[in-house]
Amino acid sequence: MKRLVCVSNRISLPRRGATPGGLAVGVLAALRHTGGVWFGWSGETSEVPAEQPEVLTRGNIRFATIDLKPADFDAYYNGYCNGTLWPLFHYFPDRFTHEQRQYEAYQAVNAEFARQLMKILKPGDAVWVHDYQLIPLGRYLRKLRFDGPIGFFLHIPFPHVQILRLLPNYAELIRDMCQYDLVGFQTADDMRSFLTCLEPAPASLPASQRIEFAGRSVRLGAYPIGIDVDGVINAAVTTYAQETVQRMAVSLMGRKLIIGVDRLDYTKGLTERFAAYEQFLEAFPENQGKVTFLQIAPPSRSDVLAYGEIRRGLEQCAGRLNGRFAEADWTPIRYLNRDYTHATLMGFLRAAKVALVTPVRDGMNLVAKEFVAAQDPEDPGVLILSPMAGAAQELRSALQVNPYDKRGMAMALQAALNMPLDERRQRHDDMLAAVRQHDIHNWYGTFVHDLTGESVRRAAA
Ligand code: G6P
Repeated sequence: MKRLVCVSNRISLPRRGATPGGLAVGVLAALRHTGGVWFGWSGETSEVPAEQPEVLTRGNIRFATIDLKPADFDAYYNGYCNGTLWPLFHYFPDRFTHEQRQYEAYQAVNAEFARQLMKILKPGDAVWVHDYQLIPLGRYLRKLRFDGPIGFFLHIPFPHVQILRLLPNYAELIRDMCQYDLVGFQTADDMRSFLTCLEPAPASLPASQRIEFAGRSVRLGAYPIGIDVDGVINAAVTTYAQETVQRMAVSLMGRKLIIGVDRLDYTKGLTERFAAYEQFLEAFPENQGKVTFLQIAPPSRSDVLAYGEIRRGLEQCAGRLNGRFAEADWTPIRYLNRDYTHATLMGFLRAAKVALVTPVRDGMNLVAKEFVAAQDPEDPGVLILSPMAGAAQELRSALQVNPYDKRGMAMALQAALNMPLDERRQRHDDMLAAVRQHDIHNWYGTFVHDLTGESVRRAAA
């Protein structure tokens, strides 16, 4: 089998304790199975980056990282990636800015990734590039004469052309995506949006799953990312019994736990969620003093203006709500801007009766799938899920509710907290089956197979 080389901006280095996002969890699971290389940014900036990638080997994975210069990093990551592409791809045109200088830094960092990666690549490697930070990387690798298969997977939504064309350089991005041999999206909807950006736009994807663009043939597909179901079950059961989760559970004093776990981001619908919870306490006052809402939201991308704004806004909402409803012995919202290990989070999810996964736009959202797997199947909690999360395509038995509909959200919370056991079990069985069907092994297995034509086999550790 070809050696798999995964490339992403952020990688999950073994020495770091923080919770990796969905991308990092998925790539790590793939590489643990197949062995290979994970190349990306070290998480550090330096005025004089080393001439060679730093390599660290753990088990069957080689982690290769490079530093970036502070000014390049700022214009590439804070600027073009998270000030331009992120808001636009999530349908937030009012939060998006475009500066040519930042676009140039984005290109320069991608070119540098390609130059450094070439030092590691060997004939016979298959390269799998991840996410919006690295769209042009495939073109730069081709320019440097890498001739193995190169695939690209987009972890976030892909917007319809009516949104994408607000971006002055959008045609270049589309051209760059067509430099790959295989381009994967989270959902069929995302793939259809991509088709609307082609000129001329095909009405649908041909049966061959291939499109021809500027003399190139590119295969497209939807590959919904999943989780390591048994890994999550084991982590949830184990950490549920351990001190951190048990201390939290005891502190509830018998109250039902409603949980949210999200990176602090305006796409996650947190402001709307807090407002809906307030409406719920108002409309169904019998719940006052009987439920606790734990929202875990580790800060992210704090140097980007919009993230500072959302953080301040949420502090105000949580403070106002607690000020209005709290009793001397009850805090309605526990709002935490801190991180836990992935395993501990799985234990928290198991302790919850209801999960609020209500983004206003999300590529997939693995917390929804993790919550399902983490539940006790004999007495499962209820998932309240936004139809704007990619996961809603698969988790049809969740209580689906529009995150902007405060009243609908309040009613869904009331329904979830009072749902009979039979119905909870039925919904949970259906959702667990869906989570198992598109699990993490299925995700990388089908993508790598479609990229290389080879079946994925487990490599020795
Ligand atoms: C999302 C993106 C990833 C990104 C992660 C964390 O899941 O799809 O590409 O790595 O968020 O964001 P950060 O900017 O901290 O890497």
